[in-house]
Amino acid sequence: MARILITSALPYINGIKHLGNLVGSMLPADVYARFQRQRGAEVLYICATDEHGTPAELAARAAGQNVEAYCTEQHDIQRQAGEAFGLSFDHFGRSSNAPNHRLTQHFAKVLEDKGLIEERTDRQIYSIEDERFLPDRYVEGTCPHCDYEKARGDQCDNCGRLLDPIDLKDPYSAISGSKNVEMRETTHLHLLQSKMQDRITQWVESKQDWPLLTKSIAKKWLKEGLRDRAITRDLKWGIPVAYQGEVRPGYENKVFYVWFDAPIEYIGATEEWALANNENWERWWCTDKGAEDVKYIQVMGKDNVAFHTVSFPATMLGSEEPWKTVDTLKSLNWLTWYGGKFSTSEKRGIFMDQALEILPPDYWRWHLMANAPESDDASFTLEHFAGVVNKDLADVLGNFVNRITRFCSARFGETVPVEGAYGDAENTLIAELDTRMSAYTDYLEKMEFRKAFVELRAIWVAGNEYLQVAAPWVVIKEDKDKAAASVRCALNLIALFATLSRPVIPFTADKMFAIFSLDPEEASLWPENATSALSRFSGGEVFTPSEVLFAKIEDDQIEAWREQFGAE
Ligand code: MF3
Ligand code: ZN
Repeated sequence: MARILITSALPYINGIKHLGNLVGSMLPADVYARFQRQRGAEVLYICATDEHGTPAELAARAAGQNVEAYCTEQHDIQRQAGEAFGLSFDHFGRSSNAPNHRLTQHFAKVLEDKGLIEERTDRQIYSIEDERFLPDRYVEGTCPHCDYEKARGDQCDNCGRLLDPIDLKDPYSAISGSKNVEMRETTHLHLLQSKMQDRITQWVESKQDWPLLTKSIAKKWLKEGLRDRAITRDLKWGIPVAYQGEVRPGYENKVFYVWFDAPIEYIGATEEWALANNENWERWWCTDKGAEDVKYIQVMGKDNVAFHTVSFPATMLGSEEPWKTVDTLKSLNWLTWYGGKFSTSEKRGIFMDQALEILPPDYWRWHLMANAPESDDASFTLEHFAGVVNKDLADVLGNFVNRITRFCSARFGETVPVEGAYGDAENTLIAELDTRMSAYTDYLEKMEFRKAFVELRAIWVAGNEYLQVAAPWVVIKEDKDKAAASVRCALNLIALFATLSRPVIPFTADKMFAIFSLDPEEASLWPENATSALSRFSGGEVFTPSEVLFAKIEDDQIEAWREQFGAE
């Protein structure tokens, strides 16, 4: 049995995530995890909140809370939102938990032993007014690349480039706004990535099947030459620079850099999972302890790719320990809000909790995945969303289920009819389904989600077209057995649709299984072929028609939401 480890980029703790974050990492990873579980693979899907660094400190400050309490509260909020969206994490951990402390300190120690860590003194921005250094997001200023005036020290939100705070023009403190800043010397641990240029290049080149976007980002970084980077910061909140409980002298007011410890939490969260479930985490991560046959997939937005193709591998490979490294790295572009940015502070766009206040999770899951920003950025608009939901979910899938269960119930009763045999119409349908199911499976396997869901939609459409042709409501007048056979076929289609749709719309799939009192876990095993799938019910099985599966979105709702969420 295949063993598949899946991690999605760890969401920052600083507030609930918007739909763009969701479709950029957690949702596609979830769809893939669900698909592989249905295929019978042993899947471990791990995620966690990314709780250190300046994003956490600044958000806690803005909320008027101490960082620890803030993180605990926000972790809970994100965990609940994930659950409500059906994100099937095997564990949703916290990068501030003990396993990550131990592992992060372990990696630093080993890297230092290998001669890959060096203490260096350089100049950083110091705020006189705040009496402290201003690492990363604590400093804002004008982007040296695009002249955006509110670029953050670690990254420009306008052009997306990664920055070093000292590159910013006209820097000011994000705490006090003070421009009274100067350069002061400070000492930090540096990871000597330049020494690992060849090793990382070789490793990247060995990854034949990485998607284009991933590969081109990795190659660009390698081409520019790997730079040594500081892995500690002048901050209070974070993982102490300590080995075996002893703080490194001179590092009393410093912690590890968030981008050093965050990816290590993939391992840490697995250890949290193992501790909570009496499981073994090493068989997922240590290639000398059973992980050699694990397939490891990472999912993330494009701004995270450099950290996962270069920095984190440098940590793992540099240790020369037998760690499992990523096999397939799926990266996504941006989802935009009406072509612009989702923005927490400007209240533009829809956040996970708000989405579920207005509609059930599957409406969002389907739209987001069917229109995932894969080959390019994609724009979310409420109008497009409503169009897709009304057409694909309400008219095509929902209507099919409703129509055939009601018809059967009225004319044959609430058991699957046993009379009649499949004929030409069913064979034509089966041939089309076989082709499409195999294409659908291949696309899901390759994580080409848009293409996959074009196929799934086409499978639903094929069911509707079959029903149009078979027309049991007409045929029943002359040939009741023939009508019975096509009703049986259509009821089988409901169960097949449920199985195939479950990775993306799990709540609806389970409602569809419930029509036949099927246990979703057992019933949703991935089908071999259409012939066997359409003979699941041979007649006599009892069923109960469901409520309408999807309500159409009305124009006045769109209007109200445009107002509420700031659509332009
Ligand atoms: N929190 C980061 C972001 O949202 C992602 C961290 S991924 C990890 O961009 F691997 F570092 F954890
Ligand atoms: Zn910029």
